[in-house]
Amino acid sequence: NEVCLNGEWMKPEEAQISVFDRGFMLGDALYEVIPFYDGKVFALEEHLDRLKYSLSQIRFDFEVKKLVPFILQAVERSSYAEEDAAVYLQLSRGTAPRTHFFPQSSEPNFLVYSFPVKLKDFEQRSWRLLLAEDIRWHRCDIKTTSYLANTMLNDESHRLGLDETLLFRDGKITEGSHSTAFFVKDNVIYTHPEGPEILSGITRKIVIDLCRELSLDIREESYRLEDFENLDEVFLTGTTTQVMMITDIFFEGSKIFSRPEAGPVTQKLQKAFKEKTR
Ligand code: PDD
Repeated sequence: NEVCLNGEWMKPEEAQISVFDRGFMLGDALYEVIPFYDGKVFALEEHLDRLKYSLSQIRFDFEVKKLVPFILQAVERSSYAEEDAAVYLQLSRGTAPRTHFFPQSSEPNFLVYSFPVKLKDFEQRSWRLLLAEDIRWHRCDIKTTSYLANTMLNDESHRLGLDETLLFRDGKITEGSHSTAFFVKDNVIYTHPEGPEILSGITRKIVIDLCRELSLDIREESYRLEDFENLDEVFLTGTTTQVMMITDIFFEGSKIFSRPEAGPVTQKLQKAFKEKTR
């Protein structure tokens, strides 16, 4: 599949940008991953709104509407469209001599392409997690491409043959390295409130709304490590994760959570999420 660089479609090996691109040099860039189900883009407005928010936080002037035609083209042109896939969108502040302050003028560089993801039958899969300390910065609400800490943390679980790393800071679970975390105890569902400690997940919002529609007791309160005892269910959400049941959580060499199959709350939300996306 071709990629779209600054509005032009080309073979990936032909796509070139300057070594002075600020995304490349400084991580001065934002991104979004937008899914499409059966060839139809999902929650586009929500992803664009979040991009607008990230732009405002890093004082980057850019009209996100400009990207819409290329996102839609990525879906139309995708050879994966018959299956499930997603659009990757990256926007850097552009090319300028390297400075620690933001340059007054630089031409943004943007990249759009589609890639295959296995979205179907997510409810038949499960993940096992590693719990680790959240070493990321204090602005996790900005969807920046500066994901070195996230990838370091995710790689720790990957090396152990696990699927994702669940993060805690000051005794509270924040989120996963690339997903949002939900906990169920005594029929109450907990997820970290929005703020600088987490990314405001699009799937998170959808699942919270589904909880309300289903009259489930959802609380935007962080879950504490000391409450892991008698924890009933854990699931993660995200664009590529959807609503993923968690069977095991490991911490410092021991298993601190185990539940071999999806609990009733996870099952209900998986079903509702599936109906929403198909
Ligand atoms: N990651 N938290 C973090 C740190 C994330 O990177 C993501 C998404 C999420 C879930 O957000 P959403 O529901 O909007 O996808 C939560 C994307 C998919 C990625 O890095 O590929």
